[in-house]
Amino acid sequence: MKNEQSHRIPTTDDIEVSTYLGIAKELHGEQATPEPKPLPPGERETIVVIDFGSQYSMLIARQIRECHVYCELVPWDTPWEKIAPLNPRGFVLSGGPASVYNPDVPLALPYIYDKHLPVMGICYGTQVIIHQLGGQISPGEKHEYGHAILYLNTEDCPLFASLPTSFPVWMSHGDQILETPPDFKTLAYTDNSPIAVAGNDEGIFGLQFHPEVVHTPVGKTIFQNFVYKVCGCQGNWTPANFVTESIEKIKKQVGKGKVICALSGGVDSAVTATLVHQAIGNNLTCIFINNGLLRRQEPERVLNTFLSNLKMNVSYVDGSERFLERLKGVTNPETKRHAIGEEFIKVFEEEAAKLGKVNFLAQGTLYPDVIESSSASETKASVTIKTHHNVGGLPARMKLSLIEPLRYLFKDEVREVGLALGLPEDMIWRQPFPGPGLAIRIVGEVTRERLEILRAADWIVMNEIKKANLYRQLWQSFAVLIGIKSVGVTGDYRSYGYTIAIRAINSNDAMTAEWAHLPYDLLARMSDRIVNEVPNVNRVVYDITSKPPATIEWE
Ligand code: XMP
Repeated sequence: MKNEQSHRIPTTDDIEVSTYLGIAKELHGEQATPEPKPLPPGERETIVVIDFGSQYSMLIARQIRECHVYCELVPWDTPWEKIAPLNPRGFVLSGGPASVYNPDVPLALPYIYDKHLPVMGICYGTQVIIHQLGGQISPGEKHEYGHAILYLNTEDCPLFASLPTSFPVWMSHGDQILETPPDFKTLAYTDNSPIAVAGNDEGIFGLQFHPEVVHTPVGKTIFQNFVYKVCGCQGNWTPANFVTESIEKIKKQVGKGKVICALSGGVDSAVTATLVHQAIGNNLTCIFINNGLLRRQEPERVLNTFLSNLKMNVSYVDGSERFLERLKGVTNPETKRHAIGEEFIKVFEEEAAKLGKVNFLAQGTLYPDVIESSSASETKASVTIKTHHNVGGLPARMKLSLIEPLRYLFKDEVREVGLALGLPEDMIWRQPFPGPGLAIRIVGEVTRERLEILRAADWIVMNEIKKANLYRQLWQSFAVLIGIKSVGVTGDYRSYGYTIAIRAINSNDAMTAEWAHLPYDLLARMSDRIVNEVPNVNRVVYDITSKPPATIEWE
């Protein structure tokens, strides 16, 4: 695992993830994606994105999935034997940092052209096509980065159907197309690129610009045109189809085996457990460990959902005492994290041992984690570091095979699947909550008294934020118990009490965040309620720092 010292998500100005999430947000108002058509399971169609290492590759996959077409990102050197079972209907060749005339650069394998499927190259992917099919590339005299206006040379290219004759696009390339391959036409140009888009009648296109980023506002339409009009896809990638397919797959994989799954109360583990449960029923046992660091009523809520509503086998362990014991005297944030992580694994193993022979561990790994750890992406900044809830190391130690039904889903798709499975909206839209829980929202030692204070204050913050209808809009909103005490006055008496900090932030991905400009009256209500209702607190402050330089959590 990358970044072993710290479980924090590293700060980076990696444009990729912010753009990716930007897309999801800013797409509102664009041309609607056609309603998906149901297709019998097993007839899934896939657009395969050949990854040449662009920082935007994940965005391409995201754009295609939003067209209700399944899409996978594969390293450029993936052999045809691995592609064929996906039932590919077309390829997208991503951008990448290489230059085609340099030695040992990645190129398209022969099947990309031999299978006579449509191909859309983007940036470096385009240069690969032009180079391999007999055109010419030169290092651009004027590098093009940023906004440009694209002018179409033709009105009947299917890729640009229903688009105006010129529109803004986002450029980011050094090399330029000098000459198109035989049978290719120049389909569009910009001021700096006489050949900005080239294509042939067989459905092979090369785009010098990036349709996948938000800065190309018509990008979605280009992807829709490619998948529907060029590749002839039907658009059958829906949460309901995904559920049906996954259940079949899990049934086959597990047979009569036994599965365990750690529930955290978060959406990923909830959706994972529900899918597995629908596939194999009581051969799944969920283990829900209360580490004593959860918010008020959280254990009850989780148990109620899974035990009473979903009727799953849940083995509930109240480990509060042991976790608190383990945290005695611990003040260093990373030591806290490690202590909690180690204790979690111990409890989990003990619990699993009581179940007799278990064969599988179900985990809520998501697609971005998979992509991040795949070899094609080694050059990328590391992003999500899962905490102890991702019970790393356990599968090998306990000789368990993994079941990861969400392995190919993005977070918002997981939410859609969760809704399709009938999970409560509360759970689906829960704001992220860190694995080490309230321990990293108490600066300094975690004690029972401090936890109680923080729970009470956090309850008020959550309550008021929900009443103000801001809960879903904010990435996170919570209370922090700052380890210091300060002087106050209560009635006629001097008090010496704790300070609570309120933290509310907007973010697209937790890698960067901005403090939320909450209305003053809301802040006033939270402050009044906290000092009046929570014993031992005489001061409330609002954290007005963004990330970077601060982090979202205080520890
Ligand atoms: P920071 O504080 O690094 O947090 O800006 C970024 C996001 O990660 C969450 N976070 C954690 N989640 N275990 C987790 O499961 C952790 O140790 C941890 N530390 C931070 C945090 O809540 C925010 O969403």
